[in-house]
Formats: sequence, structure tokens, C-alpha cells
Amino acid sequence: MAPVDPHSFADSEQPFATHISLSLYLDFSQSTIHGTALFTLPRAHAGAITLDTRSLHISAVLHPETLAPLPHHLSFPPDPIKGQALTATLPSLSSFLVAFYTSPSSSALQWLSPPQTSGKVSPFVYTQCQSIHARSIFPCQDTPAARIRYSARLNIPAGLCAVMAAARGRRREPHAGEAAPACPDGTWCAEDRMVEEFQMEQPIPPYLFAFAAGEIRSREVGPRTCVYAEGGVEVVESAAREFAGAEEMIRVGEGLFGPYEWERFDLLVLPPSFPYGGMENPRMVFLTPTVIKGDASGAQVVAHELAHSWTGNLITNKTNEDFWLNEGFTTYAERRIVEAVQGEDRAALNIGIGWRGLNNEMERFKNNMEFTKLKTNQEGVDPDEVYSEVPYEKGFHFLWRIERQIGRDEFDRFLKKYIENFKFQSVDTETFVDFLKENVPGIDQEIDLEVWIYGTGIPPDAAEPVSAIYSKILSLSEKIKLGEMPAEEEVAEWCGQEWELYLENLPKPLEPSLVAALDARFGLTESGDWEVKVAFLQLAIASGCKEYMAVVEKALKAVGRMKYLRPLYTALLQCPEKEEGKILAHRLFAEARESYHPIAQGVVESILSRHQ
Ligand code: BES
Ligand code: ZN
Repeated sequence: MAPVDPHSFADSEQPFATHISLSLYLDFSQSTIHGTALFTLPRAHAGAITLDTRSLHISAVLHPETLAPLPHHLSFPPDPIKGQALTATLPSLSSFLVAFYTSPSSSALQWLSPPQTSGKVSPFVYTQCQSIHARSIFPCQDTPAARIRYSARLNIPAGLCAVMAAARGRRREPHAGEAAPACPDGTWCAEDRMVEEFQMEQPIPPYLFAFAAGEIRSREVGPRTCVYAEGGVEVVESAAREFAGAEEMIRVGEGLFGPYEWERFDLLVLPPSFPYGGMENPRMVFLTPTVIKGDASGAQVVAHELAHSWTGNLITNKTNEDFWLNEGFTTYAERRIVEAVQGEDRAALNIGIGWRGLNNEMERFKNNMEFTKLKTNQEGVDPDEVYSEVPYEKGFHFLWRIERQIGRDEFDRFLKKYIENFKFQSVDTETFVDFLKENVPGIDQEIDLEVWIYGTGIPPDAAEPVSAIYSKILSLSEKIKLGEMPAEEEVAEWCGQEWELYLENLPKPLEPSLVAALDARFGLTESGDWEVKVAFLQLAIASGCKEYMAVVEKALKAVGRMKYLRPLYTALLQCPEKEEGKILAHRLFAEARESYHPIAQGVVESILSRHQ
């Protein structure tokens, strides 16, 4: 037994499945999926094969043709992070079938009742598999070291529609026997059911498996882009306006990083409980509705998820210990796209916001410096617990440092070559470093690669961005110490990101009257931009401004994006009136819990339990 990944039971001595064929019956009334998965192995294999599962019920493992049962067992008790290993014993087979069903608490799935959706009429379900949640939908070798093609049949109520991060096939009536023995024909073929077919022909890591089903509308916004959204016509139309620039970004990306290999670049806007800003599901990025701000600034999130099409989805981190290879490269690539379409100033602002974030993370991890490294040890660690800006921002700064050293043209050539060389592969940090040294001879004499990759903290040769607007905003933040607020004309041209940078750089706590004065003058709690609103509320909580607690409550009940939940709950637990803050945090969580995605529920629970 040789593990390939600290977060998976998969065994390197066993073959990785190359294809999975899924039949999934979505039971909205029970918040459960009944399914079969037919696994194809690269060659006949006799003996044990181990798959990851979490909160799955395994009904049977079967011979693919005779349907004769094959011996199998689930490890017990479940590992709190990895879940349960399903080990089946195969009599020399190159494929096998598993029948299973999910549980309502499956961590990848959020089931929304009609009142929890924007449309209010139909139920909705969606997935979020990164980093290790795919195993709560179907058994699989749930490590990014594996790459797999798949086909899927989703059986849904006829009034709904399904989308997947895959190529769409037919929408048709269900056929008898398609989901045997997981789902009886009477259920699978009931009158009010339809099947939607999908194919993913490029090999992907399992965390990129994704679907959603509900009342979904779409609008075309470019030659390879449609915007899909849950809810009424207004949602999809405002999304279509926000993302009109998608095609231009794809072209810029192709110029910088090579051909776009995924054919389509569709966007799906999810309900407000979506736990991330965006998720780079291939062919169809998933997005929080909070990025629709009406001023095209959601473009940054789209640029980020688009950039993953090259860095993350084409070249994938081998395990979560190399997560910076996904997010650091993508943050670098995102900023190059933003620079090309929105200009250098906008890119510099983003770098500045990230720099503040990176410095804050150093404070957060001051007693756990392992997670200030690029390459981390994640044995026994839940990736959702240690999710931070470090892999994004320190990774970005490392690549930016190399760019400064060798010049942009040479770095661009290097990046293209790296992507071309490793596309559709999963690589670790050491593979990247070897490739770097080979292609940029002498780089290890110029940059201390060891310090950047295996060292803690921010290396001394990391650089703050240089730009007039960035310095101006920081100096305005400083002036608050003298009780000075920015003048109206100084902020006349500001968009959300300027405000975010300004607010996040203010010293905390501030005099409560000054906080209220800032809001009164600039309407910050009224901002349609969630980054601005949350940055302001964090300041208000830290400064003990009780009059804003009703706004905090409303915010925590309106969205489930963890980027907002984490700082707001943390601020409540650390606020000047600790006891009061704690009581409020617990009450709000008890009331809002149900509306959050299971991943967000787990993360907030852990924040609350750490501040007992
Ligand atoms: N892949 C991430 C989201 C993610 C990371 C999900 C780890 C699960 C585990 C995605 O690309 C991302 O980074 N999203 C950011 C966007 C931002 C950096 C523009 C987010 O959600 O805030
Ligand atoms: Zn990302």
C-alpha cells in the first residue's frame, strides 16, 4: 500500500480508472442521489481496488456484465478528513459497477428548497467538489493526481433543467434499465422525469466534476460563451451585461498562455449561498451572484477562473500540498489578463489588495507557520480548514519575482512552454522547480528558491506594487490616524476596489464616531459591492460600533460566500465586547446555518469552536 495523496485512500499500486460512466437519479424530495458508476480501468486488474467515499451508502459492487456481486467493504470508523475507503476485490476485470446513494449531508451538494432560490418556484441543487468533496457524490479515486474522462446521465424532474461542466448531449425520456440496480425502472422512468446526457472527453481531476439542476435560464454573450443563471430573467440579463467581455479575455488568455483547450467557456451564476467567488469548473465556470455589481468589476473573478483553464485545469497540482501551483499561477495569469483588458493601474490595485491580504494571513498563521509556506505538509489536515490567500498571493509574488529577474518576454516564453509541456498532467512543486532550473539556467543563483518554496513568511525580495493610485490610497488610509477622511473629490472616481484597498488598510480599531462618519459621507453600508460592504463591516465590528450589528446580521443571512463569512464571524468573535460578539455570532450562525452550503457550515463551525 503506497498512498499517493494525504487526502485520499487511493493506492499507487493499483490502476487509476480512466473513465466513469454515471447514471444519477436526483431525488429532490429526499435530498439524495441514487446512482451507478461504471469504472473503466486501463487494463484488467485482479485483486483490491480502493476508492474514496464520504457519507455514501454502497449498495453493491458488481461484475459489469453478469451483475454478479463482488466482495467489498467500507473502512470504519470514517476518517474525519478522508471519509471511508471502499475496497472491492476484482477477479481480473477491466471494468466494474458500483451502486450507491448519497446522504442529505453529502458535503459537495447543496439542496435548496424553492424559497431558498432567487426564482422561488423550483428547487435547486448544485455541486462544489474542490478540494475533496467529489467522493461525497460518487465513489472515486479522489485525488488530483488522477485524471479521468466521464459520461453522465442526470435524471431530473421534467420541469427542471440540468447543466454540467461537460459537453451537453441529448435531453430525452428515461430508458428502462439505465440505472439498474441503483434505481428501479418505475422510479427512473416515471412520467414526470427526463434524462439529460453529458460527456467530458478531456481527462480531468475529480475535483472538477460539477453539475447544477433547477430552473436555469441562459443568454449568449459571445461565440463560445453563454451565461446561465438560476432565477428570473433579470438575473440572467444583468449577468449577461456584466460578462459581455468574456470573449476578449479568452483571446488575451490565448495570446499569453496558448490555445484554449476546452471549446466552450460558459458561466453559471449560482444562488447567493455559493461558498466561493468562483470555481473553475471546465467549460462552465460557477460564480457567486455577488460578482454582478453592474460596473464590470466582476471581470476580475471571471479572469481568474478563465486563467485556471490553463493553470489548474490543464496543469493540475498533484496533491493539495502543491495547491500554490494552481492558485499562485492562476493569480499571476489573472493579473496579466486584467492588465491587458483593464490597464496597469487596475492590475496594481489588485496586487495591492492581495499584498494586504497576504500580510493579514501571516498574522492568522503566526502560531502555525507551516501554512505560510508554498509547499505545505497536509498530512492529517483538512484543506478547507487551512484555505488561505497564501498559495494565491505568495505564489503570485514568487512568479512575479522570477519575471522581474529574467524579464517579461523570457518569462512569457517560459510560461507557454511549461503549459505546453505539462498539459493534461498533474505535477508537483519539485517537477516545476526542475523544469524552471532546466529552462532558466542559473535561476537558483539569482533567487533563493528554497526560501520561496519551503520557507515560512514573506521572503525579503518580495515586492509591493508601485503605482500612483496605490500609493495615494495607502497615504489616505494613513491620514485617518489624524482624524482625516478623504475629500469628496479624491474619491469621485473610485470604484469598489479603491474602496476595498482603502478600508482594508485603515488601522483597527478606529474611533466609532469616525467609522460612522465615513459611512454617513460615503454610503459604504449601502454599497452594492460586497467587498466594500464587508470590508466596512469588519472595521465597524472591530471598532465596537454596535449600531451596525443589524447590517451584519442581514449580510450574514444574505450570502454564503466564505470570503465574507470568515472575516465577519471572526471579527465578531474578536470584537472589543467579546462576550456580546460571541453570543451574536452563535445566534446568527444558528439562524443562518441552513442557508449555507455544507462546506461553509463546516468552516464557520470550526471558526466558532476555535473561539470557545
Ligand atoms: N479554485 C478556487 C476556489 C476553491 C479553492 C474552491 C479551494 C475550493 C477549494 C477558485 O479559482 C478561486 O480561487 N476563487 C476565488 C476567486 C478570486 C481569487 C478572484 C474566490 O472564490 O474568491
Ligand atoms: Zn483559483
